[in-house]
Amino acid sequence: MTATHSRLPELDPAALEGLFGRSLLLTDDWNRAELDTLLAVASRLEAADRVGRSTALLPDELAYALFFDNSTRTKSAWAGAAARLGMRPVIVDGSTTQVEHGETASETGAMLGMNAHALGLRHDLILGEGQSFMRDVSQGIGDYLAATGDPRKVPVVNLQCDADHPTQTLADLMWLRERFGDSLEGKKIAVTWAYSPSYAKPLSVPQGLISLLTRFGAHVTLAHPEAYPLTPDRMDAALRHAGESGGSFRLVDSMDEAFEGADAVYPKSWGPLGHMLERVEANRARDRERMKAIEAEALAENARHRDWICDERRMALTAAGRALYMHCLPADIGSEVTPGVMHAARVDVAREANKKLYVIMALLAVAKVRRLGERLGEVRS
Ligand code: CP
Repeated sequence: MTATHSRLPELDPAALEGLFGRSLLLTDDWNRAELDTLLAVASRLEAADRVGRSTALLPDELAYALFFDNSTRTKSAWAGAAARLGMRPVIVDGSTTQVEHGETASETGAMLGMNAHALGLRHDLILGEGQSFMRDVSQGIGDYLAATGDPRKVPVVNLQCDADHPTQTLADLMWLRERFGDSLEGKKIAVTWAYSPSYAKPLSVPQGLISLLTRFGAHVTLAHPEAYPLTPDRMDAALRHAGESGGSFRLVDSMDEAFEGADAVYPKSWGPLGHMLERVEANRARDRERMKAIEAEALAENARHRDWICDERRMALTAAGRALYMHCLPADIGSEVTPGVMHAARVDVAREANKKLYVIMALLAVAKVRRLGERLGEVRS
């Protein structure tokens, strides 16, 4: 190892071995050693990339991604990660596939698994559907490869579902570690609802944050108005993880209370749970008029809480008045956050977003590159 990399975290060989061939559908599916190893790989790939060294570990392979929702950052992170690994990224609008015409998720998996070498999926708009779609696709790929005796590894990467947004929250964790010096132990992090007039956003980012950051010893405070609870399984996971890690997890109903003394704040909007559940039925019935009406009702509920904004007064309540402002982006500027707070944080949030590229590279590399520890030696600067 060169002096340049003397501060890179160690790789755990056993964890690395266990990650070969693995998909990432929920961060909760991976143990702490596996998550630490993934981020150690991501740091090595970032270091190599930043000095311009080739990281083409997977030449000529197809990195296919299906998006059933809009995306700017995650699409470009997938494409950038695949290209840096020497893969060919192809990104397809999910609504143009035969899924709309009744093709099952496991059929889709088999069809894509026979052609692609890795598959990214975003399916985040309907509560209860995205995560199970991804599991069925993954099963379809695995069954096809097993039935045809094909030894290829075709990992599925969750690029945001209804329950979790793992590449986002792992990027957030990587950024927090860079800013706070590797350990989150004792750090106070506020994950709060914020007002948005644009659309009823998925619950997956706050759910992913509370269930991941509590595993690393952070003191996480969640704050939201009454109509915006997260799903009980993710709340239970956050409580359990906090108990196991020596961190803590609490729920409050005041943004001010969550911000007081916080080292990092993550104020973002999500949809009211009751409306998100109503949407499930309307979507199953393909009732587009009802879907539109539910969206309008959800935005009317959001509008009752316009005072939930990350502003200069609230930032002054944080630790030394200088908490790290975080957001997955895009933020509704003027609603979720004031223009002044966002302007001050503009480089920070861009650097936070950039970590997703290296998290996706690491996910593809750990799942697909044999003897990755040795091969990473080859890509070090
Ligand atoms: N944060 C995030 O996932 O951004 P995109 O929706 O633009 O991918």
